[in-house]
Amino acid sequence: MLKDIDHILISEEKIKEEVSKLGKELSQIYKDKNPLLICTLKGSAVFYADLIRSMDIPLELEFIRTSSYGNGTNSSKNIQMDAKGVVDLKNRHVILVEDIIDTGNTLKFLKEFFYSVGVADFKTCVLLNKPSRREVEIEADYICFKVPDEFVVGYGLDFAQKYRNLPFIGVLKEKVYKK
Ligand code: PRP
Repeated sequence: MLKDIDHILISEEKIKEEVSKLGKELSQIYKDKNPLLICTLKGSAVFYADLIRSMDIPLELEFIRTSSYGNGTNSSKNIQMDAKGVVDLKNRHVILVEDIIDTGNTLKFLKEFFYSVGVADFKTCVLLNKPSRREVEIEADYICFKVPDEFVVGYGLDFAQKYRNLPFIGVLKEKVYKK
């Protein structure tokens, strides 16, 4: 896998530092709220696992699956969501955990969905923000890193389902996705 990476954009250490800072901040804000942290599979799985372990308050876990990219490099507006079996969200303090906001279409879709089911409060945490590609007006409440318009993989993010298990955020060599 490493041969396909052009360079490391965010190191394992830097990620650890920022995620732990965010976990501490959320622990303060949500200490009496028993928040429900929602992982949007699959990209957020790694970030989510680290974030919940950096929080030291009672909280609950939930998982949904979203998908918009297929196997290409461009996002589609056709967001698919699978939230089967998710607990009752009414009056819950929901923190949605996402790996990246790119065009913003996924987050917009999810925000509308969560408000429609009557949550008490809805906040979004994202590991990476790529504002240069935004198509809809939306921002996350908590962001760890702003990234340039490059094809990033690792720490949960994929290209054609690969590279999610790299421990850092790396930039994929152009020849890999332009084959
Ligand atoms: C990625 C990522 C976000 C979304 C962001 O998910 O995890 O959910 O795209 O893109 P957007 O801001 O342009 O909507 P993807 O659909 O690739 O699924 P995955 O999490 O399974 O990789």
